[in-house]
Amino acid sequence: MSRAPGWAELYAWRVERDNGTPIFRQVYLQVRAAILSLTLAPGTRLPSTRALAARLRVARASVVAAYEQLLAEGYVGGKVGSGTYVSADLPEPLERRPVARGGAASRQPRLPAPALRLERMRQATGESETRPFAMGRCRLDAATAEAWRRLSQRALRTVSATHLGYTDARGLPELRAALCEYLRAARAVRCEPEQIIVTAGTQQGVDLAIRVLFEPGDEAWVEDPGYPPSRAALAAARVRTRPVPVDGQGLDVAAGRRAAPRARAAFVTPSNHYPLGVVLSMPRRLELLAWARDTGAWIVEDDYDSEFRYAGRPLASLQGLDDGERVIYVGTFNKVLFPGLRLGFVVVPRPLLRAMVNARHLSDRHPPSLTQAVAAEFMRQGHFTSHLRRMRQAYCDQRDTLVRELERRAGAEVDVESPDHGMHVVAYLRQERADVEAERAAAVRGVIARAISPLYVQAAPRSGLMLGFTGFAPEVIVQAAARLADAVRATPRARQSSGPGPPRGGRA
Ligand SMILES: Cc1ncc(COP(=O)(O)O)c(C=O)c1O
Repeated sequence: MSRAPGWAELYAWRVERDNGTPIFRQVYLQVRAAILSLTLAPGTRLPSTRALAARLRVARASVVAAYEQLLAEGYVGGKVGSGTYVSADLPEPLERRPVARGGAASRQPRLPAPALRLERMRQATGESETRPFAMGRCRLDAATAEAWRRLSQRALRTVSATHLGYTDARGLPELRAALCEYLRAARAVRCEPEQIIVTAGTQQGVDLAIRVLFEPGDEAWVEDPGYPPSRAALAAARVRTRPVPVDGQGLDVAAGRRAAPRARAAFVTPSNHYPLGVVLSMPRRLELLAWARDTGAWIVEDDYDSEFRYAGRPLASLQGLDDGERVIYVGTFNKVLFPGLRLGFVVVPRPLLRAMVNARHLSDRHPPSLTQAVAAEFMRQGHFTSHLRRMRQAYCDQRDTLVRELERRAGAEVDVESPDHGMHVVAYLRQERADVEAERAAAVRGVIARAISPLYVQAAPRSGLMLGFTGFAPEVIVQAAARLADAVRATPRARQSSGPGPPRGGRA
């Protein structure tokens, strides 16, 4: 009576013991999928629980539990133990329903315009890659991991009403106090704890800024080249992004004034331009602040990794120079500690504070209290400062290894300047090799090397590869650099050899 291949199919399935899904659920999901795809047709008798358990090498109780679930949901009928059949009156699986007239297009629900815009966006650059030289990775050293574990356990043991109830949309007062102290001392940020909103990271800080600043159709300056997620978040809010070129002194403010003098805001990475690593020079900082003051514009300062400065103290923030409260300072712990933490902060100019707190409240109310409690204690007990000290040293060694190996193995093909800050190196390709092709050649060799040319909008693109060095031990870097050198050499060169060099005067 069965029209389909039947239950012998079930025996080909695999049950994985360590994949985090309970065995009974794995069995349930596979039987259900077979029923929905008609591999097991209506009326087919399922194998006995004993037989299936024996074939899959699982406990019979797991198969019984799976069958009971299927029975409860109406996929099968009969009685577990005395014959179980696939139900005869199941709805047709969606993919087998007759196609409506007008073909595939008319079958698709019409998506709202915002959904279409978001769907068409390039995949976000968030790296889940673990291979060298993936960007933005960190090495969590043993002392930090241990301190974090201990403080987390303590927070769980001493969980109180504060942790379990609703809190201030800005976050826990103790974390804001610790952040304020740190930002004043290390980044010369002008702030009081009440101006700080704890976020899930830069991306949420940028999102909040966009919510309070823009109407659809407003203009915003973005760096060209620049950080795609900020540009994408602006585009999703229907803000018209105006690319402003970046030269050896950082954002070309005069060009921005010419192109979009009435823009509502400028999005900048002044301490470490993404991706080129240029530091916004002091004259340009003053020029940018003057533009904001003159026109009533705002500046969103993305200060994502300036803690990692390898020569001298971290540079002062742009916000610290601003006496007109025009700068929204966006910071993150996701670089300095670890990206999975999802913890960051915004320092909000007082005139925007109430609006931004309300925006936060409407978006996700407030940050999770337990993580904040751990982070506050981590800072208060001095672990944060010692973590920074250790990581600066480790990352500095890793940077040196990478630069040395690139020069040794590919000195003729790439031009690398050792950055004195940040988490990645840009290797500019000589001989007009195309960076996107080199990226592909590197991927084939198991190396992640992100091309910079796709990050340009209007400015003439340079050809270079971004290489994150913070996530990898020196011995890993040495091996990967050799494979990368191979990849670059395997990339075809253009006829003329006059490759672009690094931006001149890029270091402040
Ligand atoms: C320019 C820039 N800003 C911010 C971030 C960090 O974002 P988040 O804190 O949301 O992880 C990154 C990460 O790659 C970045 O490159």
